Amino acid sequence: MTSLVQVTLENQEFYLEKILEIENLSFSAPWSLNGFLHELENPVSHLWAIMSESVLLGYLCFWMVQEEMQLLDLAVHPRYRGLGHGTFLLTKMIDHGFSRGITARKLYEKFGFLEIGRRKDYYTDPREDAIIMSLGLPRAAGEKSHTGETAGVAF
Ligand SMILES: CC(C)(COP(=O)(O)OP(=O)(O)OC[C@H]1O[C@@H](n2cnc3c(N)ncnc32)[C@H](O)[C@@H]1OP(=O)(O)O)[C@@H](O)C(=O)NCCC(=O)NCCS
Repeated sequence: MTSLVQVTLENQEFYLEKILEIENLSFSAPWSLNGFLHELENPVSHLWAIMSESVLLGYLCFWMVQEEMQLLDLAVHPRYRGLGHGTFLLTKMIDHGFSRGITARKLYEKFGFLEIGRRKDYYTDPREDAIIMSLGLPRAAGEKSHTGETAGVAF
């Protein structure tokens, strides 16, 4: 059972150590502790961690400014990759954007999702095609094992 936690200045001591470990395993130019603390002080910045009991599986950091979202950092511990946690984090972030009135398609495109197909007349009221969009996940510098590369969404 996984849960999502918002990391804040108040609870950061428990989470940032684990986040830094994953950050260092994932990137050749990782963020420092100060980099994360700086984000926590920034009111437009959000740092979320995905937890399984007390194990921190991954995290993402994004900015939300009016109707715009910007993804700054996303990583899953190498041991727990390929299990859907990255997709879960991105989906939660996008859901958060929707609940704040961000336009779906614009948001997906901003993250590099491309339309790869349609399901004809998928929606009925009003009648509309579902647009299937796909995102290529670039391999990070220093990342050795992740060879695959797409996350799909339909809306
Ligand atoms: C990118 C990253 C966050 C993805 O996290 P994840 O938990 O492994 O992602 P998911 O399990 O949700 O997989 C997402 C998609 O990636 C692809 N993928 C993931 N692991 C894969 C593997 N071992 N082989 C092939 N494809 C893989 C799949 O297409 C998958 O979608 P699908 O399961 O619907 O086919 C993770 O690989 C990571 O931390 N990488 C290093 C840091 C990085 O590059 N961050 C992104 C830039 S900021």
